[in-house]
Amino acid sequence: MAEGLKVLSAALPADVKLETTEYDLGARLYHRTGETLPDAVLEELKDRDAILLGAIGDPSVPSGVLERGLLLKLRFAFDHHINLRPGKLFPGVKSPLAGDPQIDFVVVREGTEGPYVGNGGTLRAGTEQEVATEVSLNTAFGIERVVRDAYRRAQARPRKKLTLVHKNNVLVHAGHLWTRIFQEVGREFPEVTTDYLHVDAATIFFVTQPERFDVIVTDNLFGDILTDLAAAVTGGIGLAASGNINPTGAFPSMFEPVHGSAPDIAGQGKADPTATVLSVAMLLEHLGYTAEAAKVEAAVAADLAERTGARSTSEVGDALAARVSG
Ligand code: IPM
Ligand code: MN
Repeated sequence: MAEGLKVLSAALPADVKLETTEYDLGARLYHRTGETLPDAVLEELKDRDAILLGAIGDPSVPSGVLERGLLLKLRFAFDHHINLRPGKLFPGVKSPLAGDPQIDFVVVREGTEGPYVGNGGTLRAGTEQEVATEVSLNTAFGIERVVRDAYRRAQARPRKKLTLVHKNNVLVHAGHLWTRIFQEVGREFPEVTTDYLHVDAATIFFVTQPERFDVIVTDNLFGDILTDLAAAVTGGIGLAASGNINPTGAFPSMFEPVHGSAPDIAGQGKADPTATVLSVAMLLEHLGYTAEAAKVEAAVAADLAERTGARSTSEVGDALAARVSG
């Protein structure tokens, strides 16, 4: 986070005054107070222009507590329905894929619905007849807004190609709704070429033919899984950035690395801050600082192309900040 902020202030024009407030959330707050996201903090965050979220998670916190109580709470409270996750292989970065694949796509993952809403329950808990349901919520409203956003993004890119990923041969109720809305909204974007893949087939193509993808739109859970795979084929999750976007501006959008924390190396100063810095680039872009965003991304690209030995977290941050200001 410190390196992300370092690069952010280096990138902003001199006449822009950056005001930041730090909130110590995550495992530390939870252990101290039992809280994950105090209402007062949520209230204050509403008035910010944007949120930069550090990687969270610690094995000492029961699984799900921070995920639901902090990260998903923020995404839901601020209606972050566009979860934007670029999959880009930067020159000089080694992909585990054979050959020299050209990967440059973006996944538009729905961020506020699907099986993430917590709709379900347990019957006959603890017995041999226990039943658990996890119902995926899909609304026409929610699908339409993410699908239209994805079309707009596809329209703005040179290849103008949009792929819907779902599993409409099995998940027929939600799948048909997604497919129908995808086709309907598509009529407004005659220049965009469309394509449909079942999610299982999509995982094959992510590995065998990643070049075929330009913009992908998909639901919350498929998008979660696909974007980890996207990160893996583009140099690892240490480089993967994301934006949780509310395009209406009613609430602040939030930018964060796709990865979680790395408790095994905490405090050693060797975590790679690149995904956070790339998330800062997305934050700048979102706030309209397009040239500054491009500068940050170019700095990361140049740094990745020239990487040799191991550097500390702050050395990477310093090098990126220097490139951005230079
Ligand atoms: C992510 C994470 C989260 C998700 C978890 C931590 C709730 O895996 O940002 O991809 O599933 O969205
Ligand atoms: Mn994930």
